[in-house]
Amino acid sequence: MPMPTSAGLRNRPAEGVTHMITQPVPTASHRGLGVRTRAGLVIGAITALSIAGAIVVSTNASAASTLGASAAERSGRYFGTAVAAGKLGDSGYTTILNREFNQVTPENEMKIDATEPQQGNFTYGSSDQIVNYAQQRGMRVKGHTLAWHSQQPGWMQGMSGTALRNAMLNHVTQVATHFRGKVFAWDVVNEAFDDGGQGARRNSNLQQTGNDWIEAAFRAARNADSTAKLCYNDYNTDNWTSPKTQAVFRMVQDFKNRGVPIDCVGFQAHFTGGSNYPSNFRTTLSSFAGLGVDVNVSELDIRNAPADAYRNTTNDCLAVARCTGITVWGIRDSDSWRSGESPLLFNGSGGKKAAYDAVLAALNNGQPPQSPPPSSGPPPSSPPPGGGGCTTSVTPGTVFGDRYNTSVTVSGASTWTVVVALTSPQRVSSVWNGSASWDSSGFVMTVRSNGSGNTFGFTTMFNGNSSARPQVRSCTAG
Ligand code: G3I
Repeated sequence: MPMPTSAGLRNRPAEGVTHMITQPVPTASHRGLGVRTRAGLVIGAITALSIAGAIVVSTNASAASTLGASAAERSGRYFGTAVAAGKLGDSGYTTILNREFNQVTPENEMKIDATEPQQGNFTYGSSDQIVNYAQQRGMRVKGHTLAWHSQQPGWMQGMSGTALRNAMLNHVTQVATHFRGKVFAWDVVNEAFDDGGQGARRNSNLQQTGNDWIEAAFRAARNADSTAKLCYNDYNTDNWTSPKTQAVFRMVQDFKNRGVPIDCVGFQAHFTGGSNYPSNFRTTLSSFAGLGVDVNVSELDIRNAPADAYRNTTNDCLAVARCTGITVWGIRDSDSWRSGESPLLFNGSGGKKAAYDAVLAALNNGQPPQSPPPSSGPPPSSPPPGGGGCTTSVTPGTVFGDRYNTSVTVSGASTWTVVVALTSPQRVSSVWNGSASWDSSGFVMTVRSNGSGNTFGFTTMFNGNSSARPQVRSCTAG
């Protein structure tokens, strides 16, 4: 992505949705301290706990007043930031990092020029530094990025054809193998579409190796690391009606149809005057999620950090069950790649800005969604009257390690609307034989008949709570 100009910038449950993070145990001192608890049940700061080799994010009343803890406590999401290894010695920087965030994305340290500066010579000093730092503090790490037209080392810039294709695939394989078990997700391919309005692929040296270079990269990544979630990541794909968004959507749809291993899509959300926060961003997120991939807001920053746009972006993610988390692209304005626009949540002195308060309030559900309005489901705290005209029977289905199925049969009506309430932090990951929408909390699901009969089903992720089961709140005919 090019640097912005004054005219404006061009602008769940598979991918890390759960509290259970399959990363090595951070430190021995974290072992055996307990289990995840709801807010207010434990005294102490946000803590990374080890259970059976996984990290469990535990929160409490005071920790939930920070971004990461609030996101985790509310819905099992992460709230992360881009991190620069060179700043890990800056106590002003690390104080905020350690306090506020539970996910990190290395800003530059895993890029191709950093990890393979000479062909076949792989260097992981600064990227390992970030991974180790994060692991020791229970923060999950998203890898960024394996294949990209930019920040290629000189040797790669000069390559083409089969040699470049093979070099790219070897890079993906080597780097993904190195970080196997240490990253929960990868931005496998970054920014492969252009901004021209035709929905075309970017004309890069990688594209010139053949249109199948993206899927080849995803297959190589999956072969190297079968556990990390594999994301496509891009900018200017936030507005649902833009040709670029539609082109990426078609690619992901095609990949899913053909079994290309893609698990998630990152929306960078570098919002500026040239590419404002789009009011249909929630539609974009939910539409991609409907393809069967997770979505995430991967590089959020907004010119001048307007509180409304930050709040709306946060609420959009919270409203989409498969939106796994939000990552801001830097901590303080002075850390930003476009620091002149003061686009982040903390000022250069580390002070919280109005946008910070807006995001935290949204994460804590302290603010109603601004735009667009939430779906018609009732808030979890105020269940609706019982509905009418139909009844339901609930049948428990298969229970897996991290999730379980439920089916609901409706009697007394051929078209119907059923409202189901979940218990936090459980989340629904898929629904069949019904058309589902969620309220702004993401914990109340409204399922409408869609012509597939009178029994619908859904899969619910435990997210650390394996005991709760969904409750049907109402069944309404019509
Ligand atoms: O570290 C060197 C320093 O030694 C040197 O003195 C200085 C002189 O220019 O450059 C420094 O490196 C810079 C590096 O950031 C670290 O600050 C590079 O020049 C500069 O190009 C690089 O910019 C990064 C940019 O990607 C490159 O494309 C930004 O930090 C980084 O925030 C940005 O991140 C991208 C995402 O990866 C993909 N999406 C868009 C996003 C913003 O452009």
